[in-house]
Amino acid sequence: SCHSTISYRPIRPSDIEILEQIHGDIFPIRYESEFFQDVAHGRGIVSWAAVDHSRDDGKDDEPIGFITARVVLATESEIVDLLRYDSAESGWSLVYILTLGVVDSYRNHGIASSLILEVIKYASSIPSCRAVYLHVISYNFPAIHLYKKMSFKCIQKLPGFYLIAGQHYDSYLFVYFVKGC
Ligand code: ACO
Repeated sequence: SCHSTISYRPIRPSDIEILEQIHGDIFPIRYESEFFQDVAHGRGIVSWAAVDHSRDDGKDDEPIGFITARVVLATESEIVDLLRYDSAESGWSLVYILTLGVVDSYRNHGIASSLILEVIKYASSIPSCRAVYLHVISYNFPAIHLYKKMSFKCIQKLPGFYLIAGQHYDSYLFVYFVKGC
């Protein structure tokens, strides 16, 4: 297994070019360069990059996977109505996963699972945080499989949520509760 040579660290400014390239390669949606700036400078976004120390091509600190997320107030999130208890009143927060990806040649080694665990650990460390959530396009079976395996619950289907090249696609909303349910 290559697990022992993979480590996780925050994304930094020197990663912007590669990060932008990987996003372009693996996502059907374009992200603005401002997004990558915000990620790399930690402006309202937390992030982890996976790097492979065993590479001998001089890229042993280059991201081969990433996860980006944002802390949001429960009241300002689109899922507040789906949460039980007094989420609306009590200043609860949530962590929203924006993007997650692993380059093709590194898939199926548990790297995305580890990146998700980093976010769950982070969310668990925030006293006000209730849950981690995300949207995934309905045809992305590998990702849906992964979220279910990681005990995320699918709580909503959003018809036509994504608009890609003039076509509407449904999305699923997945939630992982760190406190309560
Ligand atoms: N050996 C073999 N298989 C393994 C190992 C291992 N050591 N470890 C885990 N796996 C298996 C997992 O169990 C899982 O499926 P299975 O249990 O049924 O076999 C499968 O591999 C995937 O788990 P990971 O390895 O943790 O995931 P991976 O690192 O391959 O990344 C991802 C998954 C992110 C979906 C990847 O395919 C990808 O980048 N896709 C394109 C971008 C994308 O779709 N991102 C998510 C969009 S949604 C969003 O961004 C919010």
